[in-house]
Amino acid sequence: MTGIQAAHIMRERGRFVSLSENQVHDASLEDYIPIDLKKILPDRPVAFSLYYPVYTASKKELTFSTIAGEGEVFKREMWQFLAKRGIASVYAHKSSLTAMTTYFEELTRCCIDSSETSLEEKTQSMYRHAEFLVETIFRDPEMGHIIGDASRWAGMVGEFFQKDPVTPAYLCRMFAKDYTTFTHSIQVSLLGMAFGTHLAWGVEEISDFGVGSLLHDLGKIWIDNHILKKPGTLTQDELSHVRRHPRLGHDHLRGISAVPPRALEIVLQHHENSDGSGYPLGLVEKEIAPLARVAHIVDCYDALTTKRPYKGPLTPYRALRLMHEGMRESFDSRFFSRFIDFLGK
Ligand SMILES: [Fe+2]
Ligand SMILES: [Fe+2]
Repeated sequence: MTGIQAAHIMRERGRFVSLSENQVHDASLEDYIPIDLKKILPDRPVAFSLYYPVYTASKKELTFSTIAGEGEVFKREMWQFLAKRGIASVYAHKSSLTAMTTYFEELTRCCIDSSETSLEEKTQSMYRHAEFLVETIFRDPEMGHIIGDASRWAGMVGEFFQKDPVTPAYLCRMFAKDYTTFTHSIQVSLLGMAFGTHLAWGVEEISDFGVGSLLHDLGKIWIDNHILKKPGTLTQDELSHVRRHPRLGHDHLRGISAVPPRALEIVLQHHENSDGSGYPLGLVEKEIAPLARVAHIVDCYDALTTKRPYKGPLTPYRALRLMHEGMRESFDSRFFSRFIDFLGK
């Protein structure tokens, strides 16, 4: 079936639904993984079937229509048809997860290795690949094997940065301006890996940092959303609740062999302060793992420079000033001054 035929059938059977907007609840949804349309390149074969949900209001029925079968080319006309209607996601069945991760890995590898691809396309490909991984892991943290894919992603990025160092200004230009746990995790990971390259770390350290920071806030999935999104000051109880996230993430990931020990330390210690005032353990600087000390700095910087419902983004200069004037005791001073140098590159 061509993409256009599929679209025709979908129009006849029901109407396209954007699930996040329409809040359609259906048990079968849990079997499908949404994929940002922008992540699928048109006019190329896709190694797994792509679907789109169609909702028939009269029957209150949600069905998944195939828009490209396994191994078929996802036609540009179909891609444009969906994009023009503001449809942001297509879906794949959970059973194709391995094929999906291989697809994104091959795309990123091809993009990085190609001499015809611009630096912008390369970094965007790495970013989109990371989005797929983070969204998949955060949606279902029981899928431990995806962590191995995240490690390979971080290894690829680490090698790329060593060959072609990107400047922080370049990276930050392509970063999302609005804070979400997903974009924040990717940005801490990419900016931190670029910083690690500046510090002349080896690929293995850079890669461990990349995985650890992709996962550093995983524990937030067990924290009440209304507290995470609360615009005002948190009560003491709410604060204690939020402060459980490093421990929750660490305890979940500890049982997964694909998580490198240094990545686990980042997850547990990224809110520890050098002066011992942090959490969950109140460690002092020499007790905090070096990669976790760096993650703490990059984590604060990204949180300050992105927009939240209750605050605008700070400029890099104001963020660094605030970190220097109000939070200096929290950070490892040597890493912090190297980070300031790095941002000035
Ligand atoms: Fe955190
Ligand atoms: Fe964070």
